[in-house]
Amino acid sequence: MKFNFGVDYYPEHWPRERWERDIELMKEADINIVRLAEFAWCLLEPERENFDFSWLDEALELLQAAGIRAVLGTPTASPPPWVMAEIPDAFAVSALGRQRSYGGRRGYCPNHAGFLEHCRRITRAMAGHYAEHPNVIGWQIDNEFSVSCYCPTCRISFQDWLREKYGGLEALNEAWGSVFWGHVYSAWEQIPVPFDLGVHPTYGSSPGLELDYRRFLSDTIVAFQKNQAEILRRLCPGHFITHNSGFGFKDVDFRKLSKDLDFVSLDYYDRIFDNLSMDVQPEIAGFTYDFVRGFKKRGFWLTELQGGPSGWKTISTTPRPGEMRLWTYQAIAHGAESIIYFRWRTACFGHEQYWHGVLDHHGEPRRRYDEIRATGQEIRRLAPRLEALEEVKAEAALIVSYDALFAFQDQPNQPDFTYFTYMKRWYAALFNQNIRVDVIPPDAPLDGYRLVLAPALYVLAERDAAELRRFVEAGGLLLVTARTGVKDTCNRVVDRPLPGLLAELCGAEVDEYEPLPTGVSVGLDMRLPGMSAAAESEGAAAHLWCDILEPRGGGTVATYREQFYAGRAAAVLNRAGKGQVLYLGTLGDEALRSMVTAWLVKTAGLSPAGRVRLLPAGVEAVERLQEKRTLTFILNHTDRTQTVELTGPCRDIVTGEVSEASLNLKAKDVAILEKMEE
Ligand code: GLA
Ligand code: ZN
Repeated sequence: MKFNFGVDYYPEHWPRERWERDIELMKEADINIVRLAEFAWCLLEPERENFDFSWLDEALELLQAAGIRAVLGTPTASPPPWVMAEIPDAFAVSALGRQRSYGGRRGYCPNHAGFLEHCRRITRAMAGHYAEHPNVIGWQIDNEFSVSCYCPTCRISFQDWLREKYGGLEALNEAWGSVFWGHVYSAWEQIPVPFDLGVHPTYGSSPGLELDYRRFLSDTIVAFQKNQAEILRRLCPGHFITHNSGFGFKDVDFRKLSKDLDFVSLDYYDRIFDNLSMDVQPEIAGFTYDFVRGFKKRGFWLTELQGGPSGWKTISTTPRPGEMRLWTYQAIAHGAESIIYFRWRTACFGHEQYWHGVLDHHGEPRRRYDEIRATGQEIRRLAPRLEALEEVKAEAALIVSYDALFAFQDQPNQPDFTYFTYMKRWYAALFNQNIRVDVIPPDAPLDGYRLVLAPALYVLAERDAAELRRFVEAGGLLLVTARTGVKDTCNRVVDRPLPGLLAELCGAEVDEYEPLPTGVSVGLDMRLPGMSAAAESEGAAAHLWCDILEPRGGGTVATYREQFYAGRAAAVLNRAGKGQVLYLGTLGDEALRSMVTAWLVKTAGLSPAGRVRLLPAGVEAVERLQEKRTLTFILNHTDRTQTVELTGPCRDIVTGEVSEASLNLKAKDVAILEKMEE
């Protein structure tokens, strides 16, 4: 596949006279792809069945003449006012029961039959018109799926979904424990959608119903996408189909959604307006890329990478010189096969007038454009070396579960506990040790890994518990933390000592537990085998949660120093078969995670990525294979020059320079190393 380098382009936001200039500037930057039309339904179909493709045809023609190909978006994230006026009951209803009105995007109910029909019509028309267009290569369906609707239509669809899942009401009542508060349903029509009192914390609806409702909404989006994918497959057999996943990871199971796509795409912003900060968090980008790479176990496209300060009401800090180039290579190192910056030029109007693009409002090339141009030219030069990069098999895996993610959203257990953030923190602990990680679902096969992390695997299926056992017995090292194995797949708490199905494997039982108020810690004495005394005195402490453990065959490796449980076990290490499992009875803090991770990495015998002996903090190394030759991307995310110590002489394919024992890398700079002897 040809490596694509491009921008999200909205020609409809600018006068026709400007288009040639835009395209000329794109050409100079070696841009060879644009994404178009994803919000242009209103212009493509100004009235029912009255289609107007003329402006888009014209833009495509100009782009084609410049050698720039196009991905088209189906514009269903933002229907025109006339569509919604025909179907006013298709506006989504919030969990508080309030119906949306016209004005934003994604304001529709994804189950509304009338809306689905409107979506089919515009998709059919666009697909029919562009199927044979020489310059269109594929489709993005809708935009950044996320979902939240509690309307009467969804209620009926939910009842159907439940009928299909449970077959009979008896099974449903049993699964949900409907006897509690006397909610035993005697007809499907009685089943409500969850409600929210709008105050936190509330008891809301029953946990069984809530988890099923989240699964249902997620399935709804899978079906919503299919509604269009089937048309595109039929009418445009030569085109690929993708979707740009993004902010909505938390309510759509993208692993399921991805099954109907040729490849996954991702939108990612390092500097985001609602977290105004001078710093970036490269480990969060790493997590996101590796998470997405796992959806189809193959490379992905980056359909939106930050082209300028982001913002709606407030504005983020601006990408530092070199950062957009650095982010581009970081994404490539993690599996991106195409890079598209959001957006070409900053809009002067509309909701996103502060979501800056490569060009500012005035449209004149400045610093950010210059950087994109230089990067585009460099990528074209390096293209043969950046294509068909293969994975270096990871030896470590982090299990991220959508069931846990959904269940924790309704019951965070500790008010400041966020599952997804917690997953990112464990990923970061490995990232900081330069360990390559696969982010996998709980039902993934574990063969081939040496270390598996199952932190807060809250909802645990029997089959998945059995696989964890097999993994350990075969010689693997497993980390389990507090809040693992708490629930069965119906979201019922298991009726045995925690960690439930894993208690025997862990050689420990949770005797009692308590959440800790945020900011309160309980000191720990930690004695992991082989760990130095210095490491032990690093101030390990429990945060957010304390499990008071009773070893049952495993050995205590940490004890609490305070509270009525001073001296009781906080972590237990157990051997099972040829492997080991460490149960950590707290949700921890960064110091504890990094201490435990260092021990896990050492005990599992994992080797850090790349040809590097020593990697300073803030510098990332990622290995990729190209025809059996290893390329090591070295990414300096810091603001100063860093020295990386190498294991042997290497050539940087970017500069052609050879480094013998160490490499100096400027702030935000990138080197792509190959070993000399290879
Ligand atoms: C998302 C969307 C874009 C745009 C950007 C910036 O990633 O896909 O359409 O809205 O955010 O807000
Ligand atoms: Zn609805």
